[in-house]
Amino acid sequence: MEILDNREHGVIAILGMRGTGKTWFSVKLLKHLMEKVDIVYLIDVVGVYEDYLSEQDIDAVIIDIDDLVSAVDFFEFFKKVEHAQDTVKYKIVVYDISALSRKEMVEFMDIFSEYLLRFKPKNKKVAVICDEVGEYAEQERGYYSSGFETLVRIGRNKNVLWIVLITQRPQKVNKHLLALSDIYVIFRLMHNLDMDAVRNILGYSKTDFTIHEQTIKHLATGQYIVYDGMNLVAYNENDEQMQFSDAGVVQKRVYPETLRKEVLQKYDEGVSVKVLSQTYQIPYETIRTWIKTRKKKEVDKNGEDKAK
Ligand SMILES: Nc1ncnc2c1ncn2[C@@H]1O[C@H](COP(=O)(O)OP(=O)(O)OP(=O)(O)O)[C@@H](O)[C@H]1O
Ligand SMILES: [Mg+2]
Repeated sequence: MEILDNREHGVIAILGMRGTGKTWFSVKLLKHLMEKVDIVYLIDVVGVYEDYLSEQDIDAVIIDIDDLVSAVDFFEFFKKVEHAQDTVKYKIVVYDISALSRKEMVEFMDIFSEYLLRFKPKNKKVAVICDEVGEYAEQERGYYSSGFETLVRIGRNKNVLWIVLITQRPQKVNKHLLALSDIYVIFRLMHNLDMDAVRNILGYSKTDFTIHEQTIKHLATGQYIVYDGMNLVAYNENDEQMQFSDAGVVQKRVYPETLRKEVLQKYDEGVSVKVLSQTYQIPYETIRTWIKTRKKKEVDKNGEDKAK
């Protein structure tokens, strides 16, 4: 993967609205990071990685954290986990902390960060991928793990070589933390406040950023632009470089009508409808457009009825 070339370490921010391809991209990134470090930790606040990894046939140790015991126990616990993964030669450990309250997530990240900085074996190289980092690194510092901030700041000196920060809402993540990134991977963003947050972090004036803003708004699912402090480069969903003007010109996905019906029915029954079958993963945005068009049809129909 080009963004990792010629680098020994780095902090990578992955930004983009819902369903634009961030988690998917992070799994691709993970495969490359596995070659560069001894162990990759995934901090999963939503509980999605197990499915994503098994779909890609990637072996991992998944650890559900639904209770926080005392910090001391936790250091022992982290050590044991590492030892266990050594013996079975798994390189990926997923901490699923989705069952924790946000306050507990902050606590977990404080302890985990301290473990990596102070108690991890010195020569062990690690990478940490954090999906939806805003849960414990809020802009307003309400829920904020300062231990994690320290990890992002000085981790590279302690063999925490790669840290990946992922968020749907750049404006809601602490900007000092995001600004520590070396590389920004930007998927589609629409919200003005998110766009402004990104522009400020990259250090662009409003005028200079207008053209990039248009590109970012038109990126199709899986497309992204990368900023490495020098250049902005656009990539398509297969990680090939593309012209900025090509943004958004991906073939539209066509889902079978039966699937669409099934989704809408599940939606009506109040069932969560993000992932629906083994073969199709439908982004929430797509479902939203389906709901919208259906509503529109209903309105049209009612309109017709009145006309009669
Ligand atoms: N590069 C790609 N090529 C093909 N399909 C893709 C690609 N990236 C994403 N997708 C499709 O888009 C869907 C949503 O992607 P993903 O779950 O990574 O979004 P996300 O940005 O993490 O969303 P959220 O913010 O809700 O977590 C995936 O399930 C997949 O079907
Ligand atoms: Mg995601």
